[in-house]
Amino acid sequence: MASNRKLLVLPGDGIGPEVVSQVLRVVDWLAAKRSVSFDLQEGLVGGAAYDSHGTPLTDETLSDALAADAILFGSVGGPQYDDLPFELKPERGLLRLRKEMDLFANLRPAMVFDAMVDSSTLKKEVIEGLDILILRELTGGIYFAEPRGIEDLSDGTKKGFDTNLYTTPEIERIGRVAMDLARKRRNKVTSVEKANVMMSGVLWRDVMTKLFENEAHGLETEHMYADNCGMQLVRNPKQFDVIVTDNLFGDMLSDCAAMLTGSLGMLPSASLGAVDDTTQKRYALYEPVHGSAPDIAGKEMANPIAELLSFSMSLRYSFDMPEDADLIEKSIQAVLAEGIRTPDIMQEGMTLVSTSVMMDNIVSKLDRSV
Ligand code: IPM
Ligand code: MG
Repeated sequence: MASNRKLLVLPGDGIGPEVVSQVLRVVDWLAAKRSVSFDLQEGLVGGAAYDSHGTPLTDETLSDALAADAILFGSVGGPQYDDLPFELKPERGLLRLRKEMDLFANLRPAMVFDAMVDSSTLKKEVIEGLDILILRELTGGIYFAEPRGIEDLSDGTKKGFDTNLYTTPEIERIGRVAMDLARKRRNKVTSVEKANVMMSGVLWRDVMTKLFENEAHGLETEHMYADNCGMQLVRNPKQFDVIVTDNLFGDMLSDCAAMLTGSLGMLPSASLGAVDDTTQKRYALYEPVHGSAPDIAGKEMANPIAELLSFSMSLRYSFDMPEDADLIEKSIQAVLAEGIRTPDIMQEGMTLVSTSVMMDNIVSKLDRSV
């Protein structure tokens, strides 16, 4: 059956291929049981691409990415690539994809499932019912701005330097996405920077302040320094709804938010571009927040839920299939409620399962849901 849903699958390195192959079972299930098929294409990225082609992202894979409706991404990196030159490191493949596709809006929801309230290192009352969204600017700031480098100094030592840089339009466009998202949630936006120390932070606060004044009608808005935000996330995370912040602070605060939910293995993300005025198309890449976890790769220990929730986000944001996304999320909740656990979320009295057995359980819940 022909399909107009073009999904490019880039499993990458470490546990990426394991969790992606489990999620493809759900893609097959959708085709078999819900008659929705995807036009799947697979490619190499990160260390896997370097091993075959000497580069973490080939131009061919990049053009496949630009032609796809969405990308399902696994993870990149591993210790065997640590000594590669900077530009050939696995992470450069992912960063080039983000930049070339202009995926500036990175949505990282952190939700605590009822069955998981005891898995967090934080007290139950602090995280019960938690549902927050970190919106990370993904194509600017210190990850990409020039100048950057390592240079020799006259005394024989070196200096290493990076630049943090944001322009008014970059801040405005991520601010608008934050307001749009908050309107579909609990109507609150917290903008996070360090305007007390950084010039890019002063501009960020200034632009956000004006934007909120002009466009945030009816929303509750506030500004917070990034260090305080880190503290507030562990003190009282339920005070937040949407947190909008720059690339580097977003990287750190989203790992922090992930642990509120009990495990990095549970957190999905969506990286979105702007909607094209003529085609109405938007580039999109879906990936778990966790990395390649080389220490457990190949051991059937990885939790496939973050990857599956990332796929589920693609059903919402790229393929307009919210009912199917609901089915998947309900099945995950039902399996967790039965005490089925991969090692990262294992607790006393629960049933420890492998990556593929976790997915067996989710697929059988899906079977029973239709
Ligand atoms: C993330 C990761 C990446 C990042 C790495 C793998 C380049 O930590 O997506 O959070 O720093 O953005
Ligand atoms: Mg990170």
